[in-house]
Amino acid sequence: MHIRSLGQDMRVSAIGLGCMGMSQGYGPNPGSRRDMVDMIRAAVDVGVTFLDTAEVYGPFVNEELVGEAIAPIRDRVQLATKFGWDIRGGKSVGLNSRPDHIKKVADACLQRLGVETIDLFYQHRIDPNVPIEDVAGTIGELVQAGKVKHFGLSEVRADTLRKAHAIYPVTAVQSEYSLWTRDPEPEILPTCAELGIGFVPFSPLGRGFLTGTIDPSVSFPQGDMRATIPRFEADNMSANQALVNHIRALAEAKNVTAAQVALAWLLAQAPWIVPIPGTRSLSRLKENAGATEVGLSADERADLDTLAARVGVAGDRYSEAHMKLVGH
Ligand SMILES: NC(=O)c1ccc[n+]([C@@H]2O[C@H](COP(=O)([O-])OP(=O)(O)OC[C@H]3O[C@@H](n4cnc5c(N)ncnc54)[C@H](OP(=O)(O)O)[C@@H]3O)[C@@H](O)[C@H]2O)c1
Repeated sequence: MHIRSLGQDMRVSAIGLGCMGMSQGYGPNPGSRRDMVDMIRAAVDVGVTFLDTAEVYGPFVNEELVGEAIAPIRDRVQLATKFGWDIRGGKSVGLNSRPDHIKKVADACLQRLGVETIDLFYQHRIDPNVPIEDVAGTIGELVQAGKVKHFGLSEVRADTLRKAHAIYPVTAVQSEYSLWTRDPEPEILPTCAELGIGFVPFSPLGRGFLTGTIDPSVSFPQGDMRATIPRFEADNMSANQALVNHIRALAEAKNVTAAQVALAWLLAQAPWIVPIPGTRSLSRLKENAGATEVGLSADERADLDTLAARVGVAGDRYSEAHMKLVGH
């Protein structure tokens, strides 16, 4: 596995593993908890060592799962988790990034993960009630205390990122980025390049859509968040199929898979970009890791970009309610 550097020289595997779907988001997990523990350990054996979780996934059970999986291999992994929610009675009821709360959450994350230090601690969503300078200062204190190594922000706007970075150096921005979600391109990616901050695309496979395995006639099971996302409404999926058809055709011509093309396209954008595809299947994990060996020529990338710009994307990437939480 290739190694990439995010900001502040944090070195991670060039492809990470998003663990969210093991506990929530995409309907019932076909595997057991034991299967997931084994899979995370197998991922590390194939070199996928950058693991992504969050306090709110579950809530809590995803961090516990990751903690159990890495217990015997802690020093081989780079562990990223996230704070920023007000979680009551097992449910997120809003945002909370007040300094005293961040410190409590850090202690709880450390306990659930069973580690002494969180390698990368992201603010999951910007809290409009707490100045970003206070959040960055709090992370600085947690670093001083040895509880956190690196600071990250998720779904942040460029000017907020600059303010945070001025107080405590940011290592990575994690936001949605893929062939059908280009929001970070105008401002965030240039800002990351300028400030030496890494970028971690989440949902790099378009929540599965870009792999060509989702039929527009699908009906998502209960607990599958795609049922609430406009892009996954049947009409929109049909309209968005043109992009997937192009990805598949290119994949076939190169004798690789559509998932690998989608990930290789991201890897080719900049050497400090590290996608974290999520899966609950070891064979898919290996397939996704294989994207690091897939090169795309400048012409192939230009064709993908031209087609994506021409066909556009039908539907928002989040529900109306959640759209209000991003880009602050
Ligand atoms: N910061 C944030 O706000 C935020 C938001 C969303 C996600 N995330 C993080 O980003 C990670 C990845 O994003 P994501 O899981 O939302 O979306 P994703 O990685 O774009 O797609 C995951 C979906 O694709 C399927 N899949 C994975 N590999 C595949 C392959 N090779 N072929 C066909 N299907 C494949 C998975 O199904 P199976 O599991 O059945 O394989 C799952 O349904 C999450 O796990 C989470 O850690 C962060």
